[in-house]
Amino acid sequence: MSSLVIVGAQWGDEGKGKVTDFLTDKADVVVRYQGGNNAGHTVISNGKVYKLHLVPSGIVQNKPSVIGSGVALDPLSLIEEMNELKMQGIIFDKLLIDKRTHLILPYHIKLDQLREESSARTEIGTTKRGIGPCYEDKTKRCGIRVCDLMMPEIFKEKLKQNLNNVNTELKKIYSSDELDFDDIADKYLNAAKIIRPYVADTSIIVQDYIKSGKKVLFEGAQGTMLDVNYGTYPYVTSSHPTTAGVCVGAGIPPTAINEAIGIAKAYTTRVGKGPFPTELLDKTGDYLREKGHEYGVTTGRPRRCGWFDTVGVRYAARINGLTGLAITKLDTLTGLKEIKLCVSYKYKGEILNVIPPELNIFDECEPVYEVFEGWEQDMSSVRSYNDLNDNAKKYLSRISELCETPISIISVGPDRQQTIINGKFFNE
Ligand code: IMP
Repeated sequence: MSSLVIVGAQWGDEGKGKVTDFLTDKADVVVRYQGGNNAGHTVISNGKVYKLHLVPSGIVQNKPSVIGSGVALDPLSLIEEMNELKMQGIIFDKLLIDKRTHLILPYHIKLDQLREESSARTEIGTTKRGIGPCYEDKTKRCGIRVCDLMMPEIFKEKLKQNLNNVNTELKKIYSSDELDFDDIADKYLNAAKIIRPYVADTSIIVQDYIKSGKKVLFEGAQGTMLDVNYGTYPYVTSSHPTTAGVCVGAGIPPTAINEAIGIAKAYTTRVGKGPFPTELLDKTGDYLREKGHEYGVTTGRPRRCGWFDTVGVRYAARINGLTGLAITKLDTLTGLKEIKLCVSYKYKGEILNVIPPELNIFDECEPVYEVFEGWEQDMSSVRSYNDLNDNAKKYLSRISELCETPISIISVGPDRQQTIINGKFFNE
């Protein structure tokens, strides 16, 4: 039995696409288990750039790629993404979509946008892709699933019922235009014809892969600090981008998970609102944003940038049971005279070593830093840990110590080859 989970150890955008792509080489199958097209994974392979949102990264290497039931699926957006990837030569004969996956419908997107713009609600800074409202319907038990879409009459019945309620809300609460039943039904039933060949009960298939000794890679989207339970609530997404999310989102038992690699940038970024103790609102923050190309793949929004926070990543290590860390974008720090590492927080004169659940307290936490000497080494062609300069090694070793986790991968550039491997994967 050999399965490995990739999770974001910060607020998303940690470079999971690249690490997944790298580990896909060793895997037999790749599974997405939560989130939706709010994610943006960039995979660079043989010099070609692929932008993925919903499609599992495994597709780039033509490996069986599963969209699990924990995903929020916008079928129109999926088809658009597939068409773009097909034009880049990607083949889709190994894609599988779970029958239990909930659908994002146009009213979810509309509600997400209107709620974000409404002064009566807290602005989260969502991607406005309908993710939150889709998961709300799922827990409200009025969601529409892929299996419903496969049965036109059932789909239309459920759509009619939901649309009646939503149109009342749109009109009465938001004074907004109503949505048209026929328009949505036509578009979605057309989409159903396109995705039908990929639809299956995937948890059975994934369980069989695991049982037969295949190497299964679970690809998380977003990050631990955006988990709806353990993130900076309410400034979070609506799913569980943590190792625990794999079980419900892919339909496998916790005992089937062997390894969990947490991805963290060598610094920190966040998009959207919410606390961020190590945020840099100065020239260093701008430097990281420009040098690291810190603009969202999905929305194009500039990302907030700051120093690495070991309190946050240690929290992620514990919540996810991390067996290794992948530190990405180490090369972005090259050229800085000094690099700061947050080792704890100070709140009203008291030292905190954990993330407080109370948002108002977290908001007022000040980072306590250790300062490291920077480096000038061009590390783009470094492939072994020993060839890194001593200052980078000191920085990484302290991160590993404070996060209580070995560093098993270091990324020194965007290409698949620009990677230092410092560990073993899939029980090798
Ligand atoms: P939602 O997932 O669109 O509802 O957005 C909720 C929060 O999660 C917002 O702060 C978003 O910016 C953030 N978020 C959602 N997806 C991603 C992602 O893939 N990377 C980073 N942040 C994300």
